[in-house]
Parts: sequence; structure tokens; C-alpha cells
Amino acid sequence: MFTITVESSPTRQSFQISTGDSVLVGSEKCLSNLIPVGCRGGGCGVCKVRVVEGDYSSKCMSKAHICDAQAADGYVLACRVYPLSDMCIELVKR
Ligand code: FES
Repeated sequence: MFTITVESSPTRQSFQISTGDSVLVGSEKCLSNLIPVGCRGGGCGVCKVRVVEGDYSSKCMSKAHICDAQAADGYVLACRVYPLSDMCIELVKR
């Protein structure tokens, strides 16, 4: 289990995530609407967040939604990111 802290939610919130769950799935299980849900497959960009702190692995993400510069700045798609430690993330305003 890891703890994910969401800094830019209306009030700072944290949730626990099981090993093997993506950040999006963990959010859905614990807080339902905290991170927007779309295709769940890395293609729509709806679940984009920025990782402020923490280690993670990731699966393929659409370059249309996460360009190289954004990736270097910590932007990821929550449905394609798997925590390897506690993480702190920011929601991305649309
Ligand atoms: S839900 Fe579509 S990219 Fe994550």
C-alpha cells in the first residue's frame, strides 16, 4: 500500500492505493471523482496530473496529451501510472 496525496484538490486529500493499481484506479476506489475519468487507456488525456514527488512506473501515454517537455516536468496520465512509493500529485486545471 502507498499513500497518494493530492495537493490541488479543494482541500488537500490523501488516499491509499494497493500495489498494482494505477493512480486513477486507486483514486476511483477511494474518492471516486477526485481525478477525472475518461478512456482509462492513456488516449484521451482527461486524467492528466502532475507528479510533485514520488517514484512510479508508467505505461505508454499519448504524446498528443503528454509531450516530452511535459513529461520532463512531471506531467503524466493517472490511468497509466503505477506508484512505487508514496506520491504527491497536483490536479491539472482545464
Ligand atoms: S482516462 Fe483517458 S488518458 Fe487516462
